[in-house]
Amino acid sequence: MAALHERARAALDPVHYDYFAGGADTETALADNDRAFADLALLPRVLRGNDRRDTSVRLLGDRASLPVVVSPTAFHRLAHPDGERATARATAAAGTVLVTGVAATVAVADVARAARQVRADAALWFQLYPQPDDDVTAALVRRAEKAGCTALVVTVDSPVFGRHTRDLRHGFHELPPGLAPENMRDLPGTPPGGTLRIAMSPALTWRHLRRLRDLTPLPVVLKGVLHPDDARLAVDEGVAAVWVSNHGGRQLDAAPAAVRALPSVADAVAGRVPVLLDGGVRHGADIAVALALGATAVGVGRPVLWGLAADGEAGARQVLDVLREEFDHVLALCGGRTPGDLTRDQVVSRAWPGRAP
Ligand code: FNR
Repeated sequence: MAALHERARAALDPVHYDYFAGGADTETALADNDRAFADLALLPRVLRGNDRRDTSVRLLGDRASLPVVVSPTAFHRLAHPDGERATARATAAAGTVLVTGVAATVAVADVARAARQVRADAALWFQLYPQPDDDVTAALVRRAEKAGCTALVVTVDSPVFGRHTRDLRHGFHELPPGLAPENMRDLPGTPPGGTLRIAMSPALTWRHLRRLRDLTPLPVVLKGVLHPDDARLAVDEGVAAVWVSNHGGRQLDAAPAAVRALPSVADAVAGRVPVLLDGGVRHGADIAVALALGATAVGVGRPVLWGLAADGEAGARQVLDVLREEFDHVLALCGGRTPGDLTRDQVVSRAWPGRAP
């Protein structure tokens, strides 16, 4: 995995590398996502006789062959000319869920087509930043439904854009010619031949979420939850899943690492809906820790971008295959047969017997 990252760094324009790698402000939340996993250890259980393991999980209506989905990240064609088409083929081949989104450089219908060429039942979810113009939001939702997406992931940790220090330093604020957020084409108010700018919506409230739920039969996943009270409200509002995330350290730099926020969110949700987590997941053990702390599955953002930049579809596929192998190995060593067998008492601080999370 580290080797793919290095190859990606070498392959990418340094400005684009920094766009993918960077975080907000002092990059404290970004660094803490990694540190938090490094601070946690797993207590294995022994003599449990699990010779036939199964790493698959059910996620809403879909099945994933490993408890890892591909988190929504913007502009894959900056990483590789095939962009989201390559990511879609790799994810479909690995048998898990790709979350494509408004900021994709390939339109959702084309992403879906690429995925289904590999696997007819490839699972695709659509990530949405609700737009200030309701008609634009509705058109985006229709587009996702028409492409056969099976869930809508609404990202709520971004009332305003994060301040990305590296991009500001490089003056990177425009996609190069030929690349565009393709889902933002042909919407109400789009200039002829052009795309609408993706806007953030600081005015969003739970009322908007209700309107969105009225707009579509798709299950709604709320992404970017860290406070347990928000998780509780979300479940009361009927969301289908809660996604714990600090946006890979790209929004509120003062936010805690996602994995540190996970136990209290999992307690608030109390098993009523699945909980997802992303931010800093790099190894099989990280997946196991997150599952033991209450997640049903995790997401990976940058690792897939590194795979894609290093080696296109094959690189992205390699990332998912390595994570599956590592997770299966850790599951075996922890005495588990299925992802659900990992329990919270198995996670301790590296400084154990200090306080467990
Ligand atoms: C993101 N992320 C993101 N999230 C989202 O909801 N919509 C988006 O368009 C993007 N775009 C985006 C671009 C890039 C370059 C990165 C790195 C991240 C956040 C993403 O979904 C996820 O929360 C983090 O990437 C998870 O952290 P790791 O796995 O990258 O550490």
